[in-house]
Amino acid sequence: MPTVLIDNREIEIPAGRPLNGIEAARLAGIQIPHYCWHPGLSVAGSCRMCLVEVGARDAKTGKISMQSKLTPACNIVVGDRMVLVTNSEKVARARAMVEEDLLLRHPIDCPICDKAGECKLQDYHFRYGQGDRRADIRPFSSSRRDLGDITLFVDRCVMCSRCVRFTAEISGTRELMVTGRGAGEEINVFAGYPLHNKLSGNVVDLCPVGAMGDKEFLYRQRVWFMRQHAGICTGCATGCSTWIDENQDRIYRIRPRENPSVNQWWICNDGRYDYPHVHNPDRLTQPRRRDGQSWCNVDWTGLAGQLRQVLQQAGRLAAVVSPFLTVEEAYLLCKFIRGIDRQALLVLGPVPEVGEDEQFPKGFTICAEKCPNRRGVEAVIAHFAHRVMPFDELLPVLDRGEVQAAWLSGGYRREWIDAATAERFARLKLLVVQDLFPSPLCERAHYVLPGAAFAERNGSYVNRGDRLQSVAWAIRPPAGVRSEGSLYWEMLGGSGLFNAASVLQEVAREVPYFSAATGPIPANGLDLKVNLLA
Ligand code: FES
Repeated sequence: MPTVLIDNREIEIPAGRPLNGIEAARLAGIQIPHYCWHPGLSVAGSCRMCLVEVGARDAKTGKISMQSKLTPACNIVVGDRMVLVTNSEKVARARAMVEEDLLLRHPIDCPICDKAGECKLQDYHFRYGQGDRRADIRPFSSSRRDLGDITLFVDRCVMCSRCVRFTAEISGTRELMVTGRGAGEEINVFAGYPLHNKLSGNVVDLCPVGAMGDKEFLYRQRVWFMRQHAGICTGCATGCSTWIDENQDRIYRIRPRENPSVNQWWICNDGRYDYPHVHNPDRLTQPRRRDGQSWCNVDWTGLAGQLRQVLQQAGRLAAVVSPFLTVEEAYLLCKFIRGIDRQALLVLGPVPEVGEDEQFPKGFTICAEKCPNRRGVEAVIAHFAHRVMPFDELLPVLDRGEVQAAWLSGGYRREWIDAATAERFARLKLLVVQDLFPSPLCERAHYVLPGAAFAERNGSYVNRGDRLQSVAWAIRPPAGVRSEGSLYWEMLGGSGLFNAASVLQEVAREVPYFSAATGPIPANGLDLKVNLLA
């Protein structure tokens, strides 16, 4: 195996994709500072922050000969017997000079900059910069430029060109460009062609400083007040890995979480800005029971037992299992309903579709299917019922009066059922609706139960590529809301608290499709396709 010597540490270079100096150093636990390089973009080699000393070891004598000039680590492919030095005086001086040069033209407006606390320029200055400012020129104007989806803080830009390369290589829309020359270079758009594409929010994450301002996030929260939680986007069947940034149970930002098997480093704007519904004051937050023509509020305490009792007396049951439920929730709901009525109908909830799949140049895909877990829910239903009944097939069954009670799980962000369809559930003896928002169905229900939003759930989703990913809740649900998993767990008489990980173990034992999930689930998920092929 080829070996590289980095700061006197011998590193074996794994076979496969060629590595540059920054990536090879990471294998040795050595961080090389960089601005313009990003693993998902082409190499620009322009910022010079990653300069290192490069040399070679003689194969026979082992003698090391170093090149006289520094080289950008991002722009070298490491090979056998290569030598990199990242901690010499010469390298430190070069880094300090780059920092000094960038700060000559950079406004020191960290107290009002959104990036403060996660800014590379700030971090690198403290780590590699020099204490004194040798020039006292302040040519900056603090000007802003509306680029379309994003606000550019012109003086903060360090001209790494990541945003320009992103629109050229990943979104394929090419709205951004560099204008001017030398110290006059700026990021801009062509007049009349603003930055406006479905992936545009990624340029904010890519920007190593605070030049790209997210209009939705601007001045809303300091980054050091937020906690980040690993999440999964539930906006479509791609199931992108995300970071959910929250403070005191309020989501302020959603960012991509690197996952080479799903979304690489990106998410679409639909997923990025798909959280206001979580804090919508119209959400259902009180369990209610119909009492004749009026409603009465009920308490969660004892409700699980009460529901079990009324369902046992209701006759033939049907459960509509939402594709927004997690695998664990879907499993527990099906197990509970089938435990009461062995012939109960298990129905896949409506699968929302919008347009067609959209694929971007390097493969990132926004799915037309706008739910996170159709595959997982289908596999669970197929296990219990051997056949997945689509929602439309349930309606004539209701019309014929073959079902007396139904449990409907929702979780849809937008209106998902119209009054005419809801009316077909009106003749049921018992209708339990569990949802995020009021709907025409709630008006016909006997029990209305508030459900949890995506960031409030523990559990797993299977994307359309059969990849299972597990997450824990990021925020607590509003007062009065109880997650579906914990309710189903209590209805089944489970001891202790609902634990999604142990339920998944049971699912993996019981349902062959999930059998690979018997161990811990890796951060980038688990491919269940192997089970399909086996
Ligand atoms: Fe290597 Fe910018 S990261 S030159």
